[in-house]
Amino acid sequence: MSLPLVFIVAVAKNGVIGGDNKLLWRLSGDLKRFKALTMGKPMIMGRKTFDSIGKQLPGRETIVVTRDANWRHAGVHVAQDLDGALVLAQTTGQRMGASEITVVGGGEIYRQLLPLADRIEWTQVDLAPEGDALFPPLDPKEWRESAREAHLRHPEAGDEADYAFVSYQRITNGR
Ligand SMILES: NC(=O)c1ccc[n+]([C@@H]2O[C@H](COP(=O)([O-])OP(=O)(O)OC[C@H]3O[C@@H](n4cnc5c(N)ncnc54)[C@H](OP(=O)(O)O)[C@@H]3O)[C@@H](O)[C@H]2O)c1
Repeated sequence: MSLPLVFIVAVAKNGVIGGDNKLLWRLSGDLKRFKALTMGKPMIMGRKTFDSIGKQLPGRETIVVTRDANWRHAGVHVAQDLDGALVLAQTTGQRMGASEITVVGGGEIYRQLLPLADRIEWTQVDLAPEGDALFPPLDPKEWRESAREAHLRHPEAGDEADYAFVSYQRITNGR
């Protein structure tokens, strides 16, 4: 049986997720949640997001999607298209005994894989910065909110905004 596909994303009120290939906010609670949600699982990401992180994250299997046939990075799996990335993520996930596959961005990858996503772990960031990477709008007929946890920012921890952790479940099963 195939492992579910779970998106993990932090989105500003205006749909922005990044700019100039960087994150646009600092939220320590969100970084902790990202780590907890991805640990022990395969992570599919676009080549630009990998460049932005700049390194392999320990305890997870990274699958980078790029059209560049020469792209390599030690310890990282590479796929030249999304179908290849999904197959690699399924086999890697089964081998690791993972409960699910994660998709961690960026905008191009979220947009193309959204029709296949089963769940979205969404951090709603109470900011509206300018940026060039966006999360696609969610169709309310396809997604329902199943959990929400609001957090006030902790300036002493370096948080730059209030935020909420929101889980969305797919409600349509037409695929
Ligand atoms: N807020 C969040 O949760 C979050 C999460 C992740 C990233 N981000 C932000 O998002 C931004 C990056 O997103 P982005 O949309 O610019 O780039 P991206 O989705 O990370 O990567 C795009 C790259 O992926 C490869 N690619 C895309 N579709 C492909 C396909 N169908 N087949 C093969 N390769 C494919 C291409 O790589 P090549 O050019 O090498 O061919 C493309 O240039 C950054 O600002 C980052 O900080 C935010």
